[in-house]
Amino acid sequence: MAPQHDDRHAAVIREVGVRLSAAGVPSAEVDARWLVDHVVEVAGDPVGCGAALLDGLVARRVRREPLQQVIGRTWFRLLELRCAPGVFVPRPETEIVAGLAIAAARDARARRAAPAEQASIRVVEACTGTGAIALSIAVEVPDVDLVAGDIDAVAVELATANLARVREGVAGAAMAPGTSVSVVTSELLSGVDPSWRGHLDVLVANPPYLPAGDRATWEPEVADHDPDRALVGGPDGHEVVDALLELATVWLAPGGTVILEIDERRGADALGAANAAGLTGSRIERDLTGADRAIVARRPRAPRPPAEPTAC
Ligand SMILES: C[S@@+](CC[C@H](N)C(=O)[O-])C[C@H]1O[C@@H](n2cnc3c(N)ncnc32)[C@H](O)[C@@H]1O
Repeated sequence: MAPQHDDRHAAVIREVGVRLSAAGVPSAEVDARWLVDHVVEVAGDPVGCGAALLDGLVARRVRREPLQQVIGRTWFRLLELRCAPGVFVPRPETEIVAGLAIAAARDARARRAAPAEQASIRVVEACTGTGAIALSIAVEVPDVDLVAGDIDAVAVELATANLARVREGVAGAAMAPGTSVSVVTSELLSGVDPSWRGHLDVLVANPPYLPAGDRATWEPEVADHDPDRALVGGPDGHEVVDALLELATVWLAPGGTVILEIDERRGADALGAANAAGLTGSRIERDLTGADRAIVARRPRAPRPPAEPTAC
């Protein structure tokens, strides 16, 4: 429940809002409220014993550190997740991507009716960052064996800490029955057990997908605080998306689903890459702003027939 504000708190929120606004912080008043609420929660009073804490947090936000890193947490679907400097802050639009993966995992589970078949659903999240997508699946879908990987050691440490909070029951939602998660250091799928190759029900990722040339357009919160490796997919931007679509063709089980967040400007490129890789049923899903946000595709159930030789 949001803390109640008395007149003193309201005055502090106004003062903080003025400081943030003067520093060019977008949504200064909303951020001021978050910062004061955070201090009330952890120190009890933003004027007395919490004043020094509040001052330090406001100074960080004035330097355009993302709000979520300043208060050390964010909310993603059902979960409250820890955030930390050096790790990409989960974005609201990625909740849609997690939702698509959850739907695909539930669908796979519903189809896994025959007792002789492998009991659990196998899901891999590449490029996990805080673990937001993987942990959302873990609390929303039963009977999943889940591996979440990231190339970055700081991200792996944070995702592991967030996993521990879910297991301890202090992250807002509990692990679904029969579901297990492991967090691994992994360049794309290199850290996943090779015996899972060809057996994944779902492969999901929000990979780096921006072109290097975009850097000049980023707000300071992104340019100075999100790690470059989390954002830039390569000179063209699409390199990691292309690589994951290729990996999907060998790591997914026949009929398995790949879901990747994409650059809203690259929907046609993502569809072209999925089709060229031999995936089937490719479609683009939009986010709540109407922007192209994810590609969803499947590994074909039957092997593709060899191409017919042409007559001339
Ligand atoms: C856009 S962030 C997404 C983080 C998280 N999944 C989310 O949606 O909030 C991309 C993540 O991919 C990781 N990454 C970048 N290149 C990678 C690679 N080749 N293999 C594995 N992880 C990679 C980065 O360290 C970063 O954590």
